[in-house]
Amino acid sequence: MKKLITVKLIFLYIFLTGFIFSCTKLFSNGNNADDLKSIDQKVEILLSKMTLEEKIGQMNQYNGFWDFTGPAPKGGHAEKKYEDLKNGLVGSMLNVRGVKDVTAVQKVAVEESRLGIPLIIGFDVIHGYKTISPIPIAEAASWDLEAIKKSAEMAALESSAAGINWTFAPMVDISRDARWGRVMEGAGEDPYLGSKIAEARVNGFQGNDLSLNSTIAACAKHFAAYGFAEGGRDYNTVDIGTSTLYNMVFPPFIAAKNAGVKTFMNSFNELNGVPATGNKYLQRDILKEKWAYDGFIVSDWGSITEMISHGHAKDGQHAAELALNAGSDMDMESYLYVKHLEDLVDDKKVDLNFIDDATRRILKVKYELGLFDDPYKYCDLEREKEITGSKEINDAAFDIAKKSIVLLKNKNNLLPLKKEGQKIALIGALATDKTSPLGSWRIAADDHTAVSVLEGLSQYTGNTITYSKGADLTYGKTEFVTELNINTTDKSEFTKAKEVARNVDVVIMVLGEHGFQSGEGRSRTSLDLPGVQQELLEEIFSVNPNIVLVLNNGRPLTINWADENIPAIVEAWQLGTQSGHAIAQVLYGDYNPSGKLPMTFPRDVGQVPLYYNYKNTGRPNLPGPDSVFWSHYNDEVNTPLYPFGYGLSYSIFKYSNLSVTNNFERNSKIEISIAVKNIGDVEGKEVVQLYIRDKYASITRPVKELRGFELLNLKAGETKVAKFELTEKELGFYDNQGKWIFERGEFEVFVGGNSQTQNKKSFKI
Ligand code: NOJ
Repeated sequence: MKKLITVKLIFLYIFLTGFIFSCTKLFSNGNNADDLKSIDQKVEILLSKMTLEEKIGQMNQYNGFWDFTGPAPKGGHAEKKYEDLKNGLVGSMLNVRGVKDVTAVQKVAVEESRLGIPLIIGFDVIHGYKTISPIPIAEAASWDLEAIKKSAEMAALESSAAGINWTFAPMVDISRDARWGRVMEGAGEDPYLGSKIAEARVNGFQGNDLSLNSTIAACAKHFAAYGFAEGGRDYNTVDIGTSTLYNMVFPPFIAAKNAGVKTFMNSFNELNGVPATGNKYLQRDILKEKWAYDGFIVSDWGSITEMISHGHAKDGQHAAELALNAGSDMDMESYLYVKHLEDLVDDKKVDLNFIDDATRRILKVKYELGLFDDPYKYCDLEREKEITGSKEINDAAFDIAKKSIVLLKNKNNLLPLKKEGQKIALIGALATDKTSPLGSWRIAADDHTAVSVLEGLSQYTGNTITYSKGADLTYGKTEFVTELNINTTDKSEFTKAKEVARNVDVVIMVLGEHGFQSGEGRSRTSLDLPGVQQELLEEIFSVNPNIVLVLNNGRPLTINWADENIPAIVEAWQLGTQSGHAIAQVLYGDYNPSGKLPMTFPRDVGQVPLYYNYKNTGRPNLPGPDSVFWSHYNDEVNTPLYPFGYGLSYSIFKYSNLSVTNNFERNSKIEISIAVKNIGDVEGKEVVQLYIRDKYASITRPVKELRGFELLNLKAGETKVAKFELTEKELGFYDNQGKWIFERGEFEVFVGGNSQTQNKKSFKI
């Protein structure tokens, strides 16, 4: 009798499992009987139905490779990818974009594979999709968290309408080395500002409800320490201590995690001898265990295979083993998980639980995106048409483009320009360039779609503008711009440009870097103006010194000569689609510049890495008139040309009444306030910055650390009071074991308009 009941129960179990299985496959478009279950429960049910091969398939990400709306590819690896898709052996595709293509590829996964699990569609939506916002370092210069969030929100809106549901952004790598081409993609050198911006960007991409079709999953990258590549050479070795790792590198990642970022990407570099992709300490011990992160980690492109070149893995199979055991959940384009993980499980080299865990994490994000309810939710041709390049998106791009501009110099108030009766010469190849302002991360944007400076200025019709190129910036194929194919010799147009400049009221020169001169793989050993631009600048200066220099660049440049000689300098980065309009508004004073540098501008590349939050050393000052034994260079001063946090305005801001109330014993707070008055003639914005210095500690502290900022808008003559609070959170730090500690002692607090402010008070706790 007992036996019979057991047999019946087994049959019932088989029947029910089969029934649930069919339901999942048949009613996966919202009519699922599982609808009332939590996402975790749904994930477990689905996981229980998956074969090992299918689980590994979820951990596999392929690059888009064929015309998805045409016939399926034949032969080679492309055919294998197609077969893998049909067999449920692909969890994600990257670089498939546009509703038509995404629908086609999603159809294969959903309608042809056994379980019909939808793909997550990834893309580098770094600063806009089709409509491009300023490069991330430029946006960081706005210090305007709302505008930055809005920019990410608009990027999510536009890319989601093109079928994308996952961006590989934000890049939250802190970097102190302007030679590294990817400083353009981050928020600069400071972990506090970087954390605030990381949070804003994650919130912008993901919104409050990830299941909407206008929000997309974000990805904090590159975990970790990619920005500390030796010599600023991309992909290079990183060797840094725990103090730097915890106090400088990790904070923005923690901020992204706390903001709920759904995914992390590991990095190409090795960290202290172990490639990040195979780094268990980083991925399992820190991220997944210590920080209890429950999203998934994708490898960087081919970074699992690259562990062979690093000298860490013996072969592909070994690389897959190391990556999985270290906590990399998804393999981007190494093909090693699909190839080797099953064997590795059989050989007991990897734990099945790690595969379940990775699959669970990936499925969870897909459920959260709502892809199981409707795999085609981002695939609406009408919506794509309506949203792409919409006014709302362009307005936001324009808004943040203006806010990203930093006024570096404005002698005798040469700026803003008069709107009437002026003769203006416009010089420089970048002045008419409609592609470079889009930067190097603009895969979906069309060439020649940015508003050029000439077009922007031409909206103001009261002046006459004569344009002359002066010199080319580059030649050859633009995507492969390197220092080697910059045209350094052709000066044949100098004479013409000088003639144009000679008798005008003002010369505007647009100089800097080509759009592909910064970004991935674009490290430089020189931070000077590339090519013959410096010579051009000096030649023009010799006939007319009344120059406004507008810089377009993706990294800090060394512009000492310009700083000494040129009366007005405007840092306009690469500002995206609306670039020319934004620059024109600033030059004409219709927008009062408010940006502040998120990264130090050195005087000489030999000073790099140069950053404001440096350590004092034991020999910080010249000890006597003839001494040489102190920490300095013999041929250059220690200070930067423009410090972190620096930027001018057409207004003038006066700081007074710095007050520090030490209530620490009563409520564990130090309260700080300062009055800021706009003593200029026009309304303007000031980023009020608060820095601390912990004067002595068990682990030495930097000479200054940003611990607060407030963006004040002040009418002419208006005064406002900025208020800050410091608690243990702002005053503590990580020790060399990565433990957060707070030590009592003496502190200084500095409040002002840049990191060199000497407006300070002390307190003791
Ligand atoms: C390599 C880059 O390092 C990473 O940031 C990017 O997301 C991937 N390629 C995918 O394009």
